[in-house]
Amino acid sequence: MNHILITGVSRGIGLELLSQSLAKGDQVCGVARAPEESSELSALQKKYPEQLMIVKGDVNDPELGKKMLSALSLWKSLDLVIHNAGVYLSDSREDFQKTFLTNSVSPYLLTLDLLPLLKKSSLPRAAFISSQMGSVGENSSGGNVSYRSSKAALNMMVKSLSIDESWLTSLIFHPGWVKTRMGGGGAPVNPPDSAKGLLNLIHESGKKDSGTFRTFQGKILPW
Ligand SMILES: NC(=O)c1ccc[n+]([C@@H]2O[C@H](COP(=O)([O-])OP(=O)(O)OC[C@H]3O[C@@H](n4cnc5c(N)ncnc54)[C@H](OP(=O)(O)O)[C@@H]3O)[C@@H](O)[C@H]2O)c1
Repeated sequence: MNHILITGVSRGIGLELLSQSLAKGDQVCGVARAPEESSELSALQKKYPEQLMIVKGDVNDPELGKKMLSALSLWKSLDLVIHNAGVYLSDSREDFQKTFLTNSVSPYLLTLDLLPLLKKSSLPRAAFISSQMGSVGENSSGGNVSYRSSKAALNMMVKSLSIDESWLTSLIFHPGWVKTRMGGGGAPVNPPDSAKGLLNLIHESGKKDSGTFRTFQGKILPW
């Protein structure tokens, strides 16, 4: 049984990562900005009252790290944090700032805040849901510059984290093009398939995988 923290669990891939982790018997804490607005989240809370803790929070709140350490004070350790929350906005100046804060800076800094609790785990892992769109090598079509570059920045931060905190297994994933509010109805991958692939890879990953950028099916992606 693992102790897992997942951000952005109100819907989409995050909700599915949460649901599958609970079904496996893990203790899970989910962060959502407006948990009261997600009927799926309320249903999970009823189904798993002993395993699920929901914390209302915004990943861009600089106090979130402190809030999480206090909310998780009864946990002996944190085995895994999955940074899933993300936004896909326009390329206006304001949206550029919001996108970089949400998709890159906040997940990186929240991980640093959580290091003391991760350090107490015998197999500590941090997984970051990035995107193939953040691959410089695979960019053949341009466009969506704020989103692409925020995920490329995230990849660089996590690669550095894998070196700076070599005791922590730091993993970067592309979840596939997934049928969610962000991915749209035409996406070929269903959230359960994406989440299943991601969780399988995360749980079988060790230090040798730290600092890698892979798809939810395990294919290595170019930076
Ligand atoms: N879908 C795809 O095809 C695809 C492809 C590549 C990568 N990804 C990545 O996969 C991750 C999940 O995407 P998705 O498709 O599931 O998107 P989604 O359906 O739009 O869900 C995004 C989730 O992030 C949460 N969130 C956004 N900003 C937040 C903040 N400041 N604080 C806390 N939570 C916040 C949202 O919460 P609210 O309900 O409060 O808005 C929601 O739960 C993202 O990082 C995304 O970039 C998705």
